[in-house]
Amino acid sequence: MAALERRAAYPVVIKADGLAAGKGVFIAWNKAEAENVLQALFVEKTLGAAGRTVILEDYLSGEEASFFALVNGLDVLPLLPAQDHKAAYDGDRGPNTGGMGAYAPAPVVTAALTERVIAEVVQPTAAGMVAEGTPFRGVLYCGLMIEPNGMFKVLEYNVRFGDPECQVLCMLLESDLLPVLYETAAVSGNNLDRVPLHWASKTAALTVVLASPGYPGAYRSGDVIRGLEQAETIPGVKVFHAGTARDAQGQLIAKGGRVLNITARASTFASAQQLAYTAVEKIDWPDAFYRRDIGWRALQREQHETIRLDERTPR
Ligand code: GLY
Repeated sequence: MAALERRAAYPVVIKADGLAAGKGVFIAWNKAEAENVLQALFVEKTLGAAGRTVILEDYLSGEEASFFALVNGLDVLPLLPAQDHKAAYDGDRGPNTGGMGAYAPAPVVTAALTERVIAEVVQPTAAGMVAEGTPFRGVLYCGLMIEPNGMFKVLEYNVRFGDPECQVLCMLLESDLLPVLYETAAVSGNNLDRVPLHWASKTAALTVVLASPGYPGAYRSGDVIRGLEQAETIPGVKVFHAGTARDAQGQLIAKGGRVLNITARASTFASAQQLAYTAVEKIDWPDAFYRRDIGWRALQREQHETIRLDERTPR
């Protein structure tokens, strides 16, 4: 209650500290609502012991983005930023998944924002690990929330590539990945700026995840999948395997939740999306589950940008 008294900013997120089967998070839009939640948890004990302690957190709104950098001690080399779609259903609705699709370079992460993330997040994080005597060598993946006012917050760190963000980065990388990964891991260090890393310019990449029926809940495995070769005859399309196997007859089958990444690159997000979904149609897997709107934010921004460019064009 005292913490609530000191709080000036709303909305606030109130989280029960105990296990509450997904029912322990409340968004209070003002102080009165927050007091009602605390009354329910502390006095009426609606969540029992799980609600005995609560955590107050800032409410974050905006867009998530995945920011990747290779780090070797103090040496950092940013890769391209990407965005994924964690929600299972179109319109970014439904339960969370590992990612139903992704695209890069994420237009929401502008050049100015990239500079800030490097200076305010990646470099201090790398320096912190050096100062603690545990220098990091590897891929640093900062999960960001880009707020509507252009500010950002770090939601999480991972020490790996993102899935399926890595697939779209691979589509845009035009130089060999191995030398730069070698220098990332090298104990001698300090060579990241000397290895070639070329990204396709003016190119967008987008991937659609085909998942097993039932995903992200209990899903069915074993469906036979055909048509990958036909999908890859489309210029700019590549199919990545995520959860596949061969059955006793050597047929390709689904073996996992997220099974295939149908990935395309093109000069615009709109064309990359169109290519990816044309390729999805070529995959012979009638019960595959996938989203139909991967990349919608990027397409919206792209359209907006085109309109602005048109407006600047002398008539
Ligand atoms: N796509 C999100 C992740 O790899 O964590």
